[in-house]
Amino acid sequence: MLLAEKVIVVTGAGSGIGRGIAVAVAEEGGAVVALDLDLSGARETAAVVEEAGVGALPLAVDVTDGDAVAGAIAVTAGRFDRIDGWVNNAGVLRMGPVLESGDEDWARQLEVNAGALLSCCRLAARRMIDQATGGSIVNVASNAGKVGYPDMAAYNASKAAVISLTRSLAAEWAADGINVNAVCPGGVETPMLSQVARWIGERQGLDPEKLVSEMTPVQLGRHIQPIEVGRIVAFLLSDRAAIIRGQSINVDGGDTPY
Ligand SMILES: NC(=O)c1ccc[n+]([C@@H]2O[C@H](COP(=O)([O-])OP(=O)(O)OC[C@H]3O[C@@H](n4cnc5c(N)ncnc54)[C@H](O)[C@@H]3O)[C@@H](O)[C@H]2O)c1
Repeated sequence: MLLAEKVIVVTGAGSGIGRGIAVAVAEEGGAVVALDLDLSGARETAAVVEEAGVGALPLAVDVTDGDAVAGAIAVTAGRFDRIDGWVNNAGVLRMGPVLESGDEDWARQLEVNAGALLSCCRLAARRMIDQATGGSIVNVASNAGKVGYPDMAAYNASKAAVISLTRSLAAEWAADGINVNAVCPGGVETPMLSQVARWIGERQGLDPEKLVSEMTPVQLGRHIQPIEVGRIVAFLLSDRAAIIRGQSINVDGGDTPY
């Protein structure tokens, strides 16, 4: 049990990879605070987590609302006393070629994927420093932050920012006993992947179901499942990962060789 007695906050925990992370944390004995815009999704995740015999607290939180995040930290402290780990997983993707996209598309993706992530890191780190316990933070970036896929330039840039922030924050908070790493998934079977397939299907007159079935990492030959990403995140949250610091690790089935 890598996370026994630990309390882990997961943003965007009501769906997809966030739920996979929550379940993987529970498998390792950690309690989960599931934050999401969508309270019903967060509640479903909490119910699955509780089946594993650990504590769970679902909360409706928009990560772009700093007061709401601070409130969630206070509620978490009331229920569990402390926070040992924080996973910034909430993210949004708006498909569109740069020539057809507006400043608002850029602003929203940078706000949720990078700006709110930095604010959450700051609030989590303050809490860990106040507790004098240290802790660990894992950010969910994307291989898109390294590759630069077409028709998602702002998303790519937001994830590149996450990779850079991860490196900086690891260096800045090492002396406080806080470890910061990121994962870079690709091709995970979630609603976001279906969203990409629908968009391409509409533009190119192709069947979205067939497209999504083809969006598999070449070496792996199948979709990555959210729980598989979750288990890597759970490891990075644990003390065993102490020698991995400031890294953005590809969890994309071998698609990205750098
Ligand atoms: N699916 C993939 O193939 C893939 C690949 C690489 C990276 N990612 C990243 O993984 C993360 C999770 O993606 P997913 O595929 O599970 O997507 P998803 O759309 O299934 O889940 C995203 C969750 O985040 C929540 N969310 C969105 N904005 C929020 C906000 N402002 N505040 C709180 N919650 C918010 C949503 O309600 C949803 O529950 C994202 O950061 C995404 O960019 C996904």
